[in-house]
Amino acid sequence: MPEPARCSAVVCGVGASLPAHTVSNEDLAAQLDTSDTWIHQRTGISHRHVTQPGTSTADLATQAAARALKSAGRRHVDAVVLATATPDDQLPATAPAVASRLGLHEACAFDVAAVCTGFVYALATATGLITAGTAHSALVIGADRLSHLCACDDRTTRPLFGDGAGALVLRRGTPGEPGSTGPFILGSDGEHAGLLRAPHGGHLRMQGPELFRHAVTRMSTAAQAAARAAGWPLQDIDHLVPHQANARITNAVSDRLHIPPHARLSNIADRGNTSAASIPLLLSEASADGRLQAGHRLLICAFGAGLTWGATTLTWPALPAHPERSQPCTTT
Ligand code: COA
Repeated sequence: MPEPARCSAVVCGVGASLPAHTVSNEDLAAQLDTSDTWIHQRTGISHRHVTQPGTSTADLATQAAARALKSAGRRHVDAVVLATATPDDQLPATAPAVASRLGLHEACAFDVAAVCTGFVYALATATGLITAGTAHSALVIGADRLSHLCACDDRTTRPLFGDGAGALVLRRGTPGEPGSTGPFILGSDGEHAGLLRAPHGGHLRMQGPELFRHAVTRMSTAAQAAARAAGWPLQDIDHLVPHQANARITNAVSDRLHIPPHARLSNIADRGNTSAASIPLLLSEASADGRLQAGHRLLICAFGAGLTWGATTLTWPALPAHPERSQPCTTT
């Protein structure tokens, strides 16, 4: 029999960052053979935030992380785990630069590359560092600028992707305490890597309809498995927190899990698909606007290129109110 865990990783802070510049469907329709109606009906997206030249992934990640640290009332963590598919350089990883800018000198810092599932993989990794006793506290950041991987003239990818960052602070706690991360379900299938790929130096290429089917199946199966592993009946879930890929995908996942409309958290209309940032960005915004309350039971699930997928559970903790959390980044 596995030994019961002696400690857990507990969420104690949340923050987010968005570039100030927005691109509407009308803006895209002026440049591409598309329309507001097509994009809205097929994806649920109206606007997305996009970084301008001069704003890096590290800029977004650092601002989200600084806000998360402030909300946790902390200046220090032992580890920085950054989920990103758009690091600022091929090497080194972007996390050490973020740690350094936060004044976290000598903290363990590394990137996790699992594209839109990256945040769930990073959360599992940071939880492992804490429960193994390697770190007492950690920042888990999701930051991406996938808009910059889309070809200017590609109407299949440009409407979908936006940029942003979100972050959680984790500390060591007791199993079952509010804020504790639940069991993780993680998986991959490299045979279908070609469905969403950006070769070195090239643009994103996507086979949308086939990806759509995989996303619905993998997210709903992983979410069901995570709820089962946590011992949570699906009817007890207060909010499904799915990666924001497409409103039709998240609705199909919610339908399969019988999650009622009021329990489906979403921000895709104004954010688009922000890849690894989407889940922590959504948590930050929903915490700031009161949709998330202490004690709410969350079922988190993600799917991304790779293919990769993951899910976990989380009881939302009581966090001090922090008005800055959902405001846009001041960078361009
Ligand atoms: N504007 C207008 N028409 C468009 C268009 C656009 N931006 N993009 C594609 N079309 C056209 C297609 O060419 C096709 O035309 P046809 O019927 O004449 O051949 C038609 O619209 C339908 O295209 P299709 O790709 O079948 O649409 P869809 O309903 O599957 O929606 C996606 C396309 C991309 C929105 C959808 O497949 C999707 O969201 N897939 C998952 C993508 C994703 O989440 N990726 C990230 C995973 S984390």
